[in-house]
Amino acid sequence: MKSLLLSRFLVLLPWTLLVIVMLDASGSNRAHRPSSIFSRRPLSQQHPLQDGAAARRRQQEAEALPIIYAITPTYSRPVQKAELTRLANTFRQVARLHWILVEDAAMGTELVGRFIGALSRSGHLSCTHLHVLTPRRFKRPGLPRGTEQRNAGLAWIRQKYQHAPPQQPGVLFFADDDNTYSLELFQEMRTTRKVSVWPVGLAGGRRYERPIVEKGKVVGWYSGWRGGRPFAIDMAGFAVSLQVILSNPKAVFRRHGSQAGMQESDFLRQITTMEELEPKANNCTKVLVWHTRTEKYI
Ligand SMILES: *[C@@H]1O[C@H](CO)[C@@H](O)[C@H](O)[C@H]1NC(C)=O
Repeated sequence: MKSLLLSRFLVLLPWTLLVIVMLDASGSNRAHRPSSIFSRRPLSQQHPLQDGAAARRRQQEAEALPIIYAITPTYSRPVQKAELTRLANTFRQVARLHWILVEDAAMGTELVGRFIGALSRSGHLSCTHLHVLTPRRFKRPGLPRGTEQRNAGLAWIRQKYQHAPPQQPGVLFFADDDNTYSLELFQEMRTTRKVSVWPVGLAGGRRYERPIVEKGKVVGWYSGWRGGRPFAIDMAGFAVSLQVILSNPKAVFRRHGSQAGMQESDFLRQITTMEELEPKANNCTKVLVWHTRTEKYI
């Protein structure tokens, strides 16, 4: 009996030692990483100069990135603050993102004003708060939502760049507040040259909708709904470069002549062609954004 225990002990001993050695090695590795959040050294022992240089380098790198404008139409309802909080928690992790939040309201509401104020003060996310009221005659079920608000966001951007030198790098996209965005999506859209496209999860009554890509080009649409649209794509499924927005100053979301669900298609038709579209997300094989739609709770 005793010899059995001893042999078990001898079998386990080398493994135990191996684990201890590995733990120790990973600990000392961490200690050599300068100023990482994993660092075990007290703050006073870190090298302020080196950290300052690293921070400056990171900032320079971030400034070289094309800016991303996210235009979000929003309106007052019980889930609104939950939706905006989820979006803010994503956007604040994206470098060089400017959030344009446009309320469907005659005046900015206190809820959104305070929300944006706190975000701006936190210094983690730059935002602009706009508002425009949807005319009452357009507030009917079946009619598209967010039209006037998206156009207000476009107008704000065009105004901002009115006197800017040409060829400003930048990208904009329409970030409805009922979606969930993966951080990877922003890396993908950041390199948009004209108009880029990608799949959208939980859209059109399917697990996903997506552009069909052959040899790196968009040739059609996998869509659960009105497949005949020239661009059968959801609002969350594309981004446009600042150049395209500025060089097509008349391109807007139209109510007249565009039926519900045709707004994306009608807008894209004003600024691009199917041949020009740039497929992102691994030739449109990865889903990086979802129509989560918070359940109507009350
Ligand atoms: C997309 O497809 C094209 C053509 O098949 C290929 O050259 C390219 O590398 C693909 N891109 C990615 C990101 O897989």
